[in-house]
Amino acid sequence: MDKGLFITIEGTDGSGKTTQIKLMESFLKGKGCEVVLTREPGGTVISEKIRALILDPAGTEMGSVTEMLLYASARAQLVAEVIKPAVLCGKIVICDRFVDSSYVYQGFGRGMDLKVIADINRVALDGIAPDVTFFFDVSPEIALKRRTAATGTDRIENEKMDFHMRVYAGYKKLVLMYPERIKAIDGSRSVEEVFKQVAGHLELLVE
Ligand code: TYD
Repeated sequence: MDKGLFITIEGTDGSGKTTQIKLMESFLKGKGCEVVLTREPGGTVISEKIRALILDPAGTEMGSVTEMLLYASARAQLVAEVIKPAVLCGKIVICDRFVDSSYVYQGFGRGMDLKVIADINRVALDGIAPDVTFFFDVSPEIALKRRTAATGTDRIENEKMDFHMRVYAGYKKLVLMYPERIKAIDGSRSVEEVFKQVAGHLELLVE
């Protein structure tokens, strides 16, 4: 059986990823593709438990190394239990965030060494890499307005604005570093206009 496709979705908090992921799922299903939707951190029973630990607003004393290792642990379990088996049997996996989030949040955001993050995640990824990544480009200011309109924030969202600015700048750097893989989508437009850009890429991928 042919290998499937591994698509990852990235963007700052409040970039509108969730809405677009649902539209992507119905678009691909409409084309007869088998689609598996998942998210990071989470996507398995164990990874969701790790997620609750990482994002708990009460965990203010959590160190950067602990945080980075917990994200990698949740990822290792998701790769082994969900992503790898699905891609190997020909399905399209759409994952809301993946290792690029660790580069931008723990690396550019927290200042951790990108090489250390890459080394740790090499073990977690077990040879898996996204075929294509959609980056929903929304400035941190617009994203903040969208977030505060929603109820409740987690430990990462509670970070100060300069952290979110570094994360955003980190994404921009990744787009320049991996122009083949990462497709930047202007996420500041209406839902329909944003999806039009995504659909253009999806058409080519599933042709
Ligand atoms: P979530 O509520 O899923 O945010 P969003 O809806 O914006 O994706 O929370 C995930 C948070 O974890 C988000 O703030 C980004 C952060 N994160 C990291 O810092 N490193 C990582 O490796 C991953 C996967 C997420």
